[in-house]
Amino acid sequence: MKWLLNLGAECRQNLLSGSFYRQLAAAEHPDDVRGWVRQMYSQSSDFNVALAMRYTMCRDFRYQSCFAQHATEEADHASLLLDWMYKHEFLQPGEKPTSIVPYLETQLVSAYCFRSVLRESYEHQIIAMNLISEGVSYDFFSAVIPVFDRLGLKTNGYWVLHREIDRDHLALGMDLIPQCDENSPQGQEYSRIAYETSVLYDRMLNAWSISNKKKKEPSLVELVGAR
Ligand SMILES: [Fe+2]
Repeated sequence: MKWLLNLGAECRQNLLSGSFYRQLAAAEHPDDVRGWVRQMYSQSSDFNVALAMRYTMCRDFRYQSCFAQHATEEADHASLLLDWMYKHEFLQPGEKPTSIVPYLETQLVSAYCFRSVLRESYEHQIIAMNLISEGVSYDFFSAVIPVFDRLGLKTNGYWVLHREIDRDHLALGMDLIPQCDENSPQGQEYSRIAYETSVLYDRMLNAWSISNKKKKEPSLVELVGAR
């Protein structure tokens, strides 16, 4: 479905012109990326879990090998990220990654993926978790890796693998979902899913760009106190 692939690319293009990528391009020191790097573990580990759940819960044999392949290829990504974060002091020795409070915008992306797995159709899952999630991920890693090279942050397998395989992951399963025209009711439904997912990623990246300005991570006490 060429039109849907094109729509996914269009949605992603909007994100690339946002504040996150402008600030990324202007980064001069590892501290300039510290805020959002610390958000990544939550997002990465939740996405891995959503992929594993998607395979585990899949009852349609036509989708099983696609979901298994995707979950397997991502299985160790969160732990690779963790190794890298400790090595480059984005986490201090003994600091638990789960002690970092994810922004609500980071949590919303994960919640949308979990909800897709639990409550939505396989086509919803492919559009949300492959076409958009993996497309956004491919753009993110393609832009971040050269900046990290410039900042002297050596990238390990976690980073390089993403750039290599996420372009394949974004199209994974697109041939399995019912094919339709853009203007059909089903096509409009597909467009809505692509739009919703990309808006949530846009909001997450915008929140991450605020963290570049050394916004303090909220503590639980502050979150409760703000009510
Ligand atoms: Fe991926």
